[in-house]
Amino acid sequence: MTVSSAPGKVYLFGEHAVVYGEPAVPCAIERRATVSVEVRDDSRVRVTAPDLSLDGFTVEYGGDGDGRPDVNVAKGLVEAGIAYVDAAVEQARDAADAPDAGFDVTVESAIPLGAGLGSSAAVVVAGIDAATRELGHPLSPEELAERAYRAEYDVQDGQASRADTFCCAVGGAVRVEGDDCRRIDAPNLPFVVGFDGGAGDTGKLVAGVRELREEYGFAADTVESIGDLVRHGESVLADADPAAEPTDELLAELGRLMDFDHGLLEALGVSSRTLDNMVWAAREAGAHGAKLTGAGGGGCIVALDETPETETALRYTAECQDVFRAELAPDGVRVEE
Ligand code: PMV
Repeated sequence: MTVSSAPGKVYLFGEHAVVYGEPAVPCAIERRATVSVEVRDDSRVRVTAPDLSLDGFTVEYGGDGDGRPDVNVAKGLVEAGIAYVDAAVEQARDAADAPDAGFDVTVESAIPLGAGLGSSAAVVVAGIDAATRELGHPLSPEELAERAYRAEYDVQDGQASRADTFCCAVGGAVRVEGDDCRRIDAPNLPFVVGFDGGAGDTGKLVAGVRELREEYGFAADTVESIGDLVRHGESVLADADPAAEPTDELLAELGRLMDFDHGLLEALGVSSRTLDNMVWAAREAGAHGAKLTGAGGGGCIVALDETPETETALRYTAECQDVFRAELAPDGVRVEE
């Protein structure tokens, strides 16, 4: 059996605009999805994913016909988030040139689903890593990122950037602009994450921004403004010492940009009342800045605060179901003992 894990991520800034070729800076966080894979001696796939659905969901398919889940099962898979596991299995089979390989797969994830923390990317990256290792065909983090991107692209009908999958595969802070993905230096920023218990529909939210952009020139300008803001943020990060504690000036400047970014995302219609309320609770508690992370519509916000004030305030905010501090994860995908 091979066990691999991959981290979730927050967007420091740049989500949505990254879909249109603007740069984005996601940062991997120490909340991981763990995928255990064991090769079977038939071509079936058995997936047990207690954290991807309601109660200890297990699904088994393949080994007859074309080896794919049938349509009804496939619908259930999409709803359960297991479509991502299936896409990862397909990528692993393809990478190892083993189209008939069967697997027992178990997924455990500490990353809330569909909440802007890259849960699906982490599952796909860790799944492809564990399955290709089981087949004796390990891939580099860059190859894993590419395969994971293709898997997400298929499941999300083409609505995916490379940001999540690259960040989960390589870890740390990264910069993504179109096909150009690279790690960048960043100090360990004091992220606080607030979760409203809900999830956003990434496909719908991305489509909504696309419609706005097509209808209004100023919405297209708003997307470009996010790109300008990210470029500014990158220069601020580049001037910081990655090995030192972040200075007050750095946190103040990054926080200001996060606030600005949230305002632009709100203008693009991807925030929600619960996300806004959490963002305001964080700001009022003294956070340097706060914004939604990921697709929006519901899910998580990320704030910058080195003191306990934001965590405490969010704990007493009605809309906030969970709050936690998130360290920058220097490791991307890795094998677990
Ligand atoms: O909600 P998440 O973590 O899947 O992030 C979506 C980010 C978008 O920019 C809206 C879409 C994308 O694929 O980059």
